[in-house]
Amino acid sequence: MSVLIRAISAYVPPIRISNEELASRIDTTDEWIRSHTGIGARHIAPDGVQTSDMAVSAAKSALEKAKISIHEIDYIIVATATPDYFGFPATACIVQDKLGAYGASAFDVTAGCTGFIYALNIASSMLETSHGRNALVIGAEGLSRITDWNDRSTAVLFGDGAGAAVLSRIDETGRGCLSFILGADGSGAKDLYLVQPERAKAFERQPPLVPVISMNGKKVYDFAVKSITVVIERLLHKTAYRLEDFAWIIPHQANARIVQAAAKRFSIPMDKIFLNIEEYANTSAASIPLALSEMDEKGLLKPNDLIMLVGFGAGLTYGAAVIRW
Ligand code: UT7
Repeated sequence: MSVLIRAISAYVPPIRISNEELASRIDTTDEWIRSHTGIGARHIAPDGVQTSDMAVSAAKSALEKAKISIHEIDYIIVATATPDYFGFPATACIVQDKLGAYGASAFDVTAGCTGFIYALNIASSMLETSHGRNALVIGAEGLSRITDWNDRSTAVLFGDGAGAAVLSRIDETGRGCLSFILGADGSGAKDLYLVQPERAKAFERQPPLVPVISMNGKKVYDFAVKSITVVIERLLHKTAYRLEDFAWIIPHQANARIVQAAAKRFSIPMDKIFLNIEEYANTSAASIPLALSEMDEKGLLKPNDLIMLVGFGAGLTYGAAVIRW
């Protein structure tokens, strides 16, 4: 028995903002953004489009590809840092309702940009140990809603989007989700967090403040390079695979320089690493399923290919997965 990613799909919102366009609104340049991050553009959701809407679009198209009905879905897990409602209800519950997946249990995972890998691990464990057969694992983000557009050091980095995977328990062995490593270092919580709006004081009118991202870029950069390196070493040790066994490494798309530094450390050729950050920027929990979906569309993922997912992000968290496609 194993748990297979049966289908993967994505939704990218239609509004595309190039670096040049951003540079006409804030104090930055295309040259700075490209040379420091590898980002060329980002897509942002129109007003009124919630994280759940993007999640639902990605999920519908993944279900179509998987050729299974929504009524066969047992679990819906949404990894997101930008839920429709802060606190509760879970965005996964809103997705459940919009899809009409009334037989499914539904909850969110908060693990920053590592959220999709955390959610994949949870879903595959649930499918292995319970009666459920199919799960929807979604990474969805509306980061433009929590971006501080006056802070050029973060405003250029993020984008919106969603990716959804249909997971199925199958009788065959040797394929699917083979191994996971998850980790966290909460001492870095303040290096990447959501600044909360001030609490309203009774009887005082205050300007409404929205929550915005605050990041210590250098600290997160150092953590990212170190955690990718450590997690790859631990995964190779745990599984006894060699780097040469992998057809693809699919990292969280935060900064092309982070990935290049990790690749150099292991002498991994860059053509084994999939990057699409240039078009979508950093979409947090959506970035890995967005990458997988694009690879699938382009026919880059062949059955039985061994692939590695690697992520890191707010928490600070990190994680990796080995999957036989
Ligand atoms: O997915 C979650 C995880 N997040 C990450 O992985 C992000 C990790 N961090 C990074 O990717 C990088 O630290 C950044 C891309 C955020 C920043 O790159 P950096 O090379 O560390 O730049 P810096 O913060 O050291 O800034 C260098 C200079 C500064 O100017 P001075 O002080 O040297 O005169 C900044 O003011 O670049 C300036 N700067 C900019 N200039 C033009 C910062 N942002 C911008 C900008 N446009 N957008």
